[in-house]
Amino acid sequence: MKAGVPKETCPGEKRVALVPGVLAPLLKAGVEILVESGAGLAAGYTDADYTEKGATIIDDRSRLFADCEVIFQVRTPGANPATGEADLDAMHAGQIVIGLADPLSNAARIQAFAGRGITLFGLELLPRITRAQSMDVLSSQAMVAGYKAVLLAANALPRLFSMEMTAAGTLAPAHVFVIGAGVAGLKAIATAKRLGAVVHAYDVRPAVKEQVESLGGKFVELELEASSAEDKGGYAKELGEEFYRRQREVMTRVVADCQVVITTAAIPGKKSPVLVTEEMVKQMSPASIIVDLAAERGGNCELTVPDEVREVHAVTIYGPTNLPAEMAYHASQLYGKNLVTFFRTLLDKEGNLTIDTKDEVIRDTLLTRDGKLVNARLEGLLAPPSGDKE
Ligand code: NAI
Repeated sequence: MKAGVPKETCPGEKRVALVPGVLAPLLKAGVEILVESGAGLAAGYTDADYTEKGATIIDDRSRLFADCEVIFQVRTPGANPATGEADLDAMHAGQIVIGLADPLSNAARIQAFAGRGITLFGLELLPRITRAQSMDVLSSQAMVAGYKAVLLAANALPRLFSMEMTAAGTLAPAHVFVIGAGVAGLKAIATAKRLGAVVHAYDVRPAVKEQVESLGGKFVELELEASSAEDKGGYAKELGEEFYRRQREVMTRVVADCQVVITTAAIPGKKSPVLVTEEMVKQMSPASIIVDLAAERGGNCELTVPDEVREVHAVTIYGPTNLPAEMAYHASQLYGKNLVTFFRTLLDKEGNLTIDTKDEVIRDTLLTRDGKLVNARLEGLLAPPSGDKE
């Protein structure tokens, strides 16, 4: 069996689906790996690194698509609106494509894969269960994003994060407020803490209080009731505008007292709740920083513009949508490991590909097969027929 790793083409995407260090178990299982020349370069991996680990380098991208039964990508055409169409044209019926597919925001686009007879796996839909942790690309990439978000803020803030007692006087530490203490948020808390900031954090899931505190953060008690803020999959549920209105009200003081706000509050497949309004931004001290990790789905800050850095009311607001690509070496290393672990669930003992939909890891991520959309969550999103989200 041949599996291919094409170079990512989405603008700004520097990651690569498989790094040389994760190839060994695939080769051992009898999979021949073809890598497009230069595919790993932006992430820090040369063609020679791949050949040394047993891959074959291919210059001709269309040949790679034509020859391989399996394609590994970071962004499949589903998650690559800018340039993915060309890849879709290069793919063929029966081919297995594995990667990010952005299925919840682009259910209609996923139908194009079905139309071409492609078997598509969208790794965003991996269930948050213990067995799937080692395959969880959202978590591994969010961890990287949380880390980088703090570095962005620390770099832009005209203060030190840490308290300093020097001969020239004492410097007060920066106060950082992290909204949403999931994977990205917890990493942001840990990173800001290591840099010496005083870190405050809030999450609607009270269960995370202990985790925030174990990292040295101060959990902000807002006296808001969100009795069942968590769904079966361990993700936050949408709580309704009235809840968010009250949340903004009680958070205003905390936001005003912090010089850095990092927002990560996400509801899978839904627009992000607005938790920081323009009015709240006005009350922050000048030269404060907001890094809005939820920018891709509209942002947690009312003033966020995706992929832009704005200055409003003397506060700088970052709306990055692909921070893992800025740390592509390690982000790819984790992504590749996730991908290989997932792919191995598709191989039987003899190394043959078997798509066993009794396995929830496979069933939940399988989007299209045999010319049809086969994912229950997507089918729900597509009915009624005009139901494609924004
Ligand atoms: P997660 O699901 O682990 O964490 C999100 C957290 O937000 C949850 O703990 C949830 O309870 C909390 N939350 C939801 N509503 C809230 C509210 N109203 N107030 C306070 N907390 C609330 O998600 P993860 O993996 O940490 O990702 C966080 C965000 O970062 C997502 O929007 C994700 O798309 C984004 N992300 C952004 C990247 C970038 O480069 N901009 C890269 C990777 C992830």
